[in-house]
Amino acid sequence: MATIVVLRGDGIGPEVVEEGLKVLKAAARRYGIALEFTEALLGGVAIDATGDPLPEETLRRCREADAILLGAVGGPKWDTLPGDRRPERGLLRLRQGLELYANLRPVRVFPPLLDVSPLKRDVIDGADFMIFRELTGGLYYGTPRGIERRGEEETGMDTLIYTTSEIVRIARLAFQAASKRRKKVTSVDKANVLMSSQLWRRVVVRVAQDFPGVTLEHILVDNCAMQIIRNPRQFDVIVTENMFGDILSDEAAVIAGSIGLLPSASLGARGGLYEPIHGTAPDIVGTGQANPIGTILSVALLMRYSLKQEEAATAIETAVERVLAQGYRTADVKQPGTQVVGTRQMGDLIAQAVQTA
Ligand code: IPM
Ligand code: MG
Repeated sequence: MATIVVLRGDGIGPEVVEEGLKVLKAAARRYGIALEFTEALLGGVAIDATGDPLPEETLRRCREADAILLGAVGGPKWDTLPGDRRPERGLLRLRQGLELYANLRPVRVFPPLLDVSPLKRDVIDGADFMIFRELTGGLYYGTPRGIERRGEEETGMDTLIYTTSEIVRIARLAFQAASKRRKKVTSVDKANVLMSSQLWRRVVVRVAQDFPGVTLEHILVDNCAMQIIRNPRQFDVIVTENMFGDILSDEAAVIAGSIGLLPSASLGARGGLYEPIHGTAPDIVGTGQANPIGTILSVALLMRYSLKQEEAATAIETAVERVLAQGYRTADVKQPGTQVVGTRQMGDLIAQAVQTA
């Protein structure tokens, strides 16, 4: 029996998680996988209920779970809170508390959506890469950090710091993944300016020696930002530090056609946290328009990485493709001649497709 902690979170989080659960349960039934669910609070809803964006109880349950499914956290209601009490801090503390140091963000184009992206079809056709974003280090956690008054001025400060072991462990995962894919790792840094990047590059080169079958390339982050939309097919596995990965993965969503489509898996020593890469979308909360596919594909990753259920994972991904190919679309990816459906209906269609796979 696998235990899944469900963190619905804020904004459209609960709406997309509901559909993710629907599909997860459909796949579990179809493949005879026993699952047990428990709900916990994270983010703004947790602040409202307990004053803390990551209550002790949530962390404890997540530690005991086999996997965690998360919607999204944050929203205008909590935007005026000081940094350390914001909903997002709850998520960052959760990632850190569970040592989920590797954030995987697969990016690919669904053939039926080739013309949804503002990028030209022949640029994105066939793009298929995986971003390995370091998730528990760098600017997000480095100290010293804070805002201080120094004489007349206030100073805001963050620290970009990486240790050898932090770089080694994410790099190894990236190389392992590449050796099962097209055997190319692109390491993204800013080694022409940053000391942390110089260490990053040196350590990645060292790790590469253990993977003679994989080609390693280095690219500066500014150039990478351009190459991702100029020629995305050149990438297989991208490995990079926390902040660069955050920025590049939003950019990469343009290739897929909508940020609502991209899933993520955060992995570490054990367990795993699965969440769409999008935010809480306050502008469409409650309208039933949110795209649940990012969450549904996150559920596929949960099946694959935490439950080792490759068949169920593939079935979910195939179901998503099939429903899109049938012309069903949420509003963010609609095109002339397609059938626009709401969040719930999209979840139903995909769950049905999983069951008949
Ligand atoms: C993401 C998000 C988070 C991050 C926010 C919500 C803290 O943008 O998962 O990409 O910056 O990591
Ligand atoms: Mg982000």
